[in-house]
Amino acid sequence: MSSDALSNLLQENRVFPPAAEFAAQANAQPAMYAQASADRLAFWAEQARALDWSQPFDEVLDWSQAPFARWFVGGRLNVAYNCVDRHVAAGHGDQVAIRFEGEPGDRRDITYAQLQDEVCQAANALLELGVGAGDRVAIYMPMIPEAIVAMLACARIGAPHSVVFGGFSAHALASRIDDAQATLVITADGQHRRGSAMPLKPAVDEALQTLAADGTSPVAHVLVVRRTGGSVEWTDGRDVWWHEIVERQSTAHQAEGFDSEHPLFILYTSGTTGKPKGILHTSGGYLTQASFTHRNVFDLKPDSDVYWCTADIGWVTGHSYIVYGPLSNRVTQVVYEGTPDTPTHDRWWDIVERHRVTILYTAPTAIRTFMKWGDHLPAGKDLSSLRLLGSVGEPINPEAWMWYREVIGGDRCPIVDTWWQTETGAIMISPLPGVTGTKPGSAMTALPGIGAAVVDDEGRPVANGGGGYLVLTEPWPSMLRGIWGDPQRYVDTYWSRWPQYYFAGDGAKLDDDGAIWLLGRVDDVMNVSGHRISTTEVESALVSHPKVAEAAVVGATDETTGQGIVAFVILRSGALADGEDGAPVIKELREHVAKEIGPIAKPRQVMIVAELPKTRSGKIMRRLLRDVAENRELGDATTLADPTVMNLIASGLATGTSED
Ligand code: WTA
Repeated sequence: MSSDALSNLLQENRVFPPAAEFAAQANAQPAMYAQASADRLAFWAEQARALDWSQPFDEVLDWSQAPFARWFVGGRLNVAYNCVDRHVAAGHGDQVAIRFEGEPGDRRDITYAQLQDEVCQAANALLELGVGAGDRVAIYMPMIPEAIVAMLACARIGAPHSVVFGGFSAHALASRIDDAQATLVITADGQHRRGSAMPLKPAVDEALQTLAADGTSPVAHVLVVRRTGGSVEWTDGRDVWWHEIVERQSTAHQAEGFDSEHPLFILYTSGTTGKPKGILHTSGGYLTQASFTHRNVFDLKPDSDVYWCTADIGWVTGHSYIVYGPLSNRVTQVVYEGTPDTPTHDRWWDIVERHRVTILYTAPTAIRTFMKWGDHLPAGKDLSSLRLLGSVGEPINPEAWMWYREVIGGDRCPIVDTWWQTETGAIMISPLPGVTGTKPGSAMTALPGIGAAVVDDEGRPVANGGGGYLVLTEPWPSMLRGIWGDPQRYVDTYWSRWPQYYFAGDGAKLDDDGAIWLLGRVDDVMNVSGHRISTTEVESALVSHPKVAEAAVVGATDETTGQGIVAFVILRSGALADGEDGAPVIKELREHVAKEIGPIAKPRQVMIVAELPKTRSGKIMRRLLRDVAENRELGDATTLADPTVMNLIASGLATGTSED
């Protein structure tokens, strides 16, 4: 963020105190903060006891092997039982759990009793396919109810799932299957997006072919949900239709309690190197914090709310705030398959109106997109059912925050700007609605039971008004338990800069009142539309193209997506004939990245350059490239090995830029 934008941000002095009417009915209570700071572990133990344990825990936290935590030691529970069966047992079997709406307009309501039957059947099918506790299952699916059923079925039998976003490429899927050594892949024939049926299974076929060619495919079966009905290639003996195997299973399945630290899922996220990290989450602590935060940050009232989180289950937000948090709290929620512009640009507001959505949780990128599309779209629908709005994934600028409040929330809904990460598993910094006053653009303060600080280079907490790095000062229940297969990388990445703190990788500032303002990543991770993509990942994809000699990638500020990916590329000699137009190569390179990683990683811009700015030790000076990408005057270039390089780059730009 430029220093201008930053100082504007920090001059933001509007405060919205909690409305008395909201406070009077709020789940969250002001006393929670004092209670948690008086005895943090007792506070979390109390939250854990809101779950159903088949065996109670005898120790709240074992931190003796720090930074490897064990929470609720000795306890046993079944996560799926907590999300489904216990609500049926309590007499809520007829309550609708999922109100599914497909992009073509098909609808399906699933009650808790039906969900229980489907999860049990799917669990029995997984067992029949040879999947047992501890085996990894890759899930590569669209936003359809079966995706949620698949996750819960895995949880039910103790098989950790690894959900791979359906927008990732075959290549990305293959590396994730390989890293986790998944023995089963659950997918669908295709998905409905932007008005057409897009195939999904071919990417699985391609991924498994690549793995088999290396002689290393761990996958025994592919379980395929029929969604679009298109024709699919079939590998006999390996591929199994969901409707053929799941629907004939018994709806009876005895849920077994697993150890509190039993692995629940792996979710891959970008780090600062090219290889994505398999973030590992376990059962008791994760569910405790996902459930507690969902109940209190979103003020969920299970008997009256209709909740809608617009995330995809391929991201952590979908795990914690579509599946585990909401279902553990007996939510009634909308699940929508498609894009916001199909068939018209007011599809979301149509959904809010028809389903009488009360709680909406989405990302700043979406909000900024709707701002651009115009106020008349939400104004054309009845949004009066909304009573609380949430934001996640990236810093929300005050302008978008105010628009969200006024145009979507009719000036009456509290906004919760929630900061957290794949690694934290659940929300860490956020206002509590009805308790905490809010400022447009600030995530405000750490939740009760969470320790957060902003520190300087030496790890010393900064005073109010100061800026630095965001750290977490105490272990928390839903913290990652490590990186799959690489414990050392876990220690190095998060616990080595200041060994006593978890280093989140975000810059932050405290305002004069001590409220926390997140300023974006301080490492080489970009945040594009709320999705984390590492610069190195995109660089490796680019240099894997035969025409590319060298590549440097930066995230440049983007009005809509937060950051946009800008790539500087040196081509191999002969890749471009003298005087040849660069546009076709640029197009080819953008497509290549989409194929290697997925369309979300496609660079917004590719610039063909003759040189890259490097220090004498050969390190690329991204700061200067960001200046170029953001059309700023160049910063200090005196540490460059060759100071003339920047002139070369700047002068070559006019011909080498492509945008669409
Ligand atoms: C960013 C998404 C500012 C941050 C849940 C973090 C945010 C990264 C916010 C994690 C927020 C997330 N304000 N920045 N409210 N929420 N971020 O793992 O940079 O996909 O480190 O988890 O998103 O992204 P991830």
